[in-house]
Amino acid sequence: MQIIFLGPPGAGKGTQSSKLMAYLDIPLLSTGEILRNAKSQEGPQAQTIANYIDRGELVPDEMIVSMIVDTLEDPVYQKGCLFDGFPRTINQAESLDECLSKVGHPLDLVLELRVNNEELVRRLNNRANETDTPREDDQKEETVRHRLDVYDEQTRPLVEYYQARGLLVSIDGTQTMEKVFSDITKAIEHIKARKCRAGELKRGY
Ligand code: AP5
Ligand code: MG
Repeated sequence: MQIIFLGPPGAGKGTQSSKLMAYLDIPLLSTGEILRNAKSQEGPQAQTIANYIDRGELVPDEMIVSMIVDTLEDPVYQKGCLFDGFPRTINQAESLDECLSKVGHPLDLVLELRVNNEELVRRLNNRANETDTPREDDQKEETVRHRLDVYDEQTRPLVEYYQARGLLVSIDGTQTMEKVFSDITKAIEHIKARKCRAGELKRGY
């Protein structure tokens, strides 16, 4: 299955996608994690990435798309993938469509986690205070609020993009983590049943 987690900073994409990875036994691709890992290496690319993510800006589409296209070539992603934090722009979404149509496994589902901004600021502030090595982009409320604005401007249009294709399921992300996960698995089971009826799951998709 190919599933996207969509939602603003702090909505619970990382929390829920890790649980879902175990539930579905498919790999997780978190662009935030990939970029933080690249940022921690030596060299000019690391510095460029830091300049974007520490300020709460998106890295340029061409940079992230080429990283994802390379990563998806790994046979480990043949069965499907959970995308946490990708795509974040319409350009990225179009590149992903192209990439997945080449491998013959189009998107199955886009899970949108909805949480209001005050709760998001509260969560990210807590996370910064409770971690020994907090993320640079969590530390200042100003940067957190900028990340929320960037989401509204550049990523929120994807809600309509995927809704128009009948792929979007929106979930109330303010519920407990357990209830959010249960809503997610309900949506997944619905898709699985549909794929089974279409005979796709028997072929290992
Ligand atoms: P990324 O790492 O993806 O960060 P983000 O989108 O800002 O989201 P977070 O990881 O902060 O939140 P989350 O939704 O995963 O929530 P979590 O589960 O941790 O991206 C970082 C940066 O990388 C971007 O700003 C950008 O610069 C760059 N980047 C990444 N992808 C890119 C792309 N495609 N293109 C360009 N640039 C890109 O939960 C948050 C907190 O809330 C936790 O403490 C958790 O315990 C708590 N929590 C979770 N669920 C609940 C709940 N139900 N109730 C109460 N608390 C909860
Ligand atoms: Mg995350």
